Amino acid sequence: PSRFAVIGHPVAHSLSPRIHAAFARQTGINLTYVAIDAAPEEFDAVLAEFAAEGGVGANITLPHKTRAAQICTHLSEAAERAGAVNTLIRSATGWHGDNTDGTGLVRDLTDRHGLDLRSRRTLLIGAGGAARGVAPALLDAGIGDLFIVNRTPERTDALADALGQPGRVHPRYFDDLRGLGSFDLIINATSATRDGGLPTLPMSLMGRRSAAVDLSYGEVAIPFLSWARAAGAHERTDGLGMLVEQAAESFQRWHQVRPETDAVYAKLREHDA
Ligand code: ATR
Repeated sequence: PSRFAVIGHPVAHSLSPRIHAAFARQTGINLTYVAIDAAPEEFDAVLAEFAAEGGVGANITLPHKTRAAQICTHLSEAAERAGAVNTLIRSATGWHGDNTDGTGLVRDLTDRHGLDLRSRRTLLIGAGGAARGVAPALLDAGIGDLFIVNRTPERTDALADALGQPGRVHPRYFDDLRGLGSFDLIINATSATRDGGLPTLPMSLMGRRSAAVDLSYGEVAIPFLSWARAAGAHERTDGLGMLVEQAAESFQRWHQVRPETDAVYAKLREHDA
């Protein structure tokens, strides 16, 4: 079997091994896919060891996505724009890095949830790795203006600059939120729930046809989605669908077959409930 892995820290609770095992069964591809824990200072060595043992592809998750981008000998346009890699593909010359988070999110929102993203006035909360991973794909999907807020303003500015569309992308401060009116799409891309708690968000952000998305899933997504419910969001979703879709995109890069995601998603959702 060909060897695959997800490398992160922590990674024990990652659903990726289950998702890829399900895709492998469905498509009849013989592979192994394991979770490998690597602390930041061990990442390079762990990846080298994985390659030496015959590893041909890997998903990279927190906190290694930026470092992984630096190690690659070639980056896809999506990885280049995100400055982050979630998918490694072994080539003759080294690791080829790609990022499927953004396309995974867009696919989940449009295909699974039936949302038309075009012209949606969008608020992105956070400017870390997760935010950088999804912002380019959202712009490509045709959202309207993109407002970005982040606890550390320098990162807001850096992300806005990197996106390179100054007429459309607007960095703002948390303190400005009350004056920004309402949004059609609000995305929580912070790790604040795990890390000190979500900042207070004014209810005025939520419009009548707003969709609220938390990029995480399980318990971590509850505080933001509860706020979204109280604020009157029309649609609320966590990042479970995005997780399955980014996995399918990675699977396709590795195996040239696109797996069917609905059954896998439904199964995971059952366990989540
Ligand atoms: P990830 O890959 O999950 O995005 P990250 O790059 O460390 O991880 O980014 C975490 C994000 O959550 C950042 O936007 C971070 O804000 P800072 O850039 O100011 O650090 C945000 N974040 C984490 N804890 C937060 C908190 N308690 N309040 C507000 N934002 C928080």
